Amino acid sequence: MSFETHQLRCTVCGDVIAGRAVNSIFRCPHCNGLYDVIYPWSAADVADAASPTGNVPNPAALRYLWQERKTSTLPIDQSGVWRFRELLPIVPDSSVVTLREGNTPLYEMPKCAKLVGIDWLLAKHQGMNPTGSFKDTGMTAALSVAADRGFEWVACASTGNTSAAMAAYAARGGLRSIVFIPEGKIAWGKLSQSMDYGAITIQLKTDFDGCVRILTDLVTRFPIFLLNSVNPYRLEGQKTPVLEILEQLEWQVPEHILVPGGNLANGSALGKGFMEMYYLGFIPRVPKISIIQAEGANPLYRSLEENGGTELIPVKANTRATAIRIGNPASWQKALRALRQTGGWCEQVTEQEIALAKAEIGAEGIGCEPASAVTFAGLKKLVAQGKVQREERVVLLLTGHTLKDSQYTIDYHRGELLTEAESAQATAQERAQHAVLCKPPIVLEPDSDVVLRTLETQMHMQGSVLPV
Ligand code: F0G
Repeated sequence: MSFETHQLRCTVCGDVIAGRAVNSIFRCPHCNGLYDVIYPWSAADVADAASPTGNVPNPAALRYLWQERKTSTLPIDQSGVWRFRELLPIVPDSSVVTLREGNTPLYEMPKCAKLVGIDWLLAKHQGMNPTGSFKDTGMTAALSVAADRGFEWVACASTGNTSAAMAAYAARGGLRSIVFIPEGKIAWGKLSQSMDYGAITIQLKTDFDGCVRILTDLVTRFPIFLLNSVNPYRLEGQKTPVLEILEQLEWQVPEHILVPGGNLANGSALGKGFMEMYYLGFIPRVPKISIIQAEGANPLYRSLEENGGTELIPVKANTRATAIRIGNPASWQKALRALRQTGGWCEQVTEQEIALAKAEIGAEGIGCEPASAVTFAGLKKLVAQGKVQREERVVLLLTGHTLKDSQYTIDYHRGELLTEAESAQATAQERAQHAVLCKPPIVLEPDSDVVLRTLETQMHMQGSVLPV
C-alpha cells in the first residue's frame, strides 16, 4: 500500500508538498508558514467546503466502524486516536506507536455550571491520557510518523507535558529522545516523567521561547525529528477529541468549546477537527471555539485587542500556569483561523481567577492542572459578557491532570500561592468562594480528644455536625 495518502499545505501561501518533502523545521521555505495535513477529501479552502473532492469518507459507515472497534482487542483499535484512523491516514497501521491514548471521559460539571449560571457544562478531561495530558493524542500521531520515516532521534522544547508525552512514546517506539525545558519553570511532576521514560533532559537557562530557538537551530544540523506542535502531524492526533466528544454526545453538537491557549496548537487542532467533520457531513454546524490565555502570557489576546490579529505581538510570558507560559506562540495564525471559522473568542484571565477556577474544578471531584483551569475562569467572563447563554451547551477542554502540578495545589490550600496584590483583585464573592474552598492540611497530636474537637470545629464551620 502506498502511503502518499496525504500532503502538506502551507497555511499562509497555500503551497502544497508531499509529506516526506517537508524540511526539518516544518516551515514553508517560501513564506515561513506552518503546514496543515490535507487529504484527498479535504476541502481546498472554506469556499469549496460544501463540495469536498476525492474519495469522500462515508459518515454513516464510519460511525458504525468506529463503534465496532470499541470491542476489538487490537491495540490500534483500542486507541482513542487510531480508532478514527480513516480521518488521519498518515502512517501504515504497522508503524503506529500507541499507549491506548484518548478514550477520555466527558464529565458533567453541575456545581461549576451552577456557579457560573448556565444549565449544561461538561469537561472533556484530556488529563486522563496515559502520561496525564492531551499531548498524548498528538504524540502518538507524530511519533508514529517519525518511526515510519526511520528517524532514530526525536526532540522537543516543552513546558513539560509535550516532553513527558514524547519521552514515553519514544521509549515505546524504540526511538531516542531529547527534551529541552526552561530551567526552574516547569512543574516537578512533568520533569520527573521525561527522566522516568528515559529521555535526555536538558534544562536550559531560558524560557520556553528560548528553548524553541535553540532546538530549531539543532534540528537543521542533525537528523532529529522535531516533535513540537509546528509539526502538523501532532495536530492530526489532537483533533481526535472532537470525534470522541461527538460520539459521547451522540453526535449532537455543543454550542461552545473552551480551550487553554499556550503555543496555540490545541485550539487550532480542535478547529481543524470540527471543520473537517462539518465538511464531511458528520455534523450540520460547528461549535464556537474560544481560546483562553493567562493574563501574563496573552500574546493572542493582546494582538486581537491591539491590531485585530494582523500581526502577533510577542510578550515576555509570566504565569504560574507554567504549561502556558509562552510569549511567542508558533500556531497563532492557525488559532486565529479556528476562532474566525467557528465564531469563538479569545479571553484572558488573572492568576487569582485561575487559582479559584482550579479549586472549583477540584471541588467537583475532577481536578486539573492550572493551565486547564483557565477554561472555567474564561467561561465566567464569556457568560458575564453575554457571549454564552444560560441554555447553551458548553464543553471545557481540561488539558492536564491535577497531579501534574501538585505544588500549585498545596500552595493554594496553604494560602501561600497568591501575592497580597493578586488576592486583593478578588471580588467579595470570589473571596467568599476562596474561603469555602481552601482546605489546608491540619497537623495534630495523635490524641483522640484533640482530633474530635478539631473535627467538631471544622464541621461546625461547614454547617454540619458529627453523628453521635
Ligand atoms: N494545557 C496544558 C496542560 C499544556 O501543557 C499546554 C501546552 C496547553 C494547555 C496549551 O496548549 O500550546 O497547544 O496552546 N503545553 C506545551 C508543552 C507547550 O510543552 O507541554 P497549546
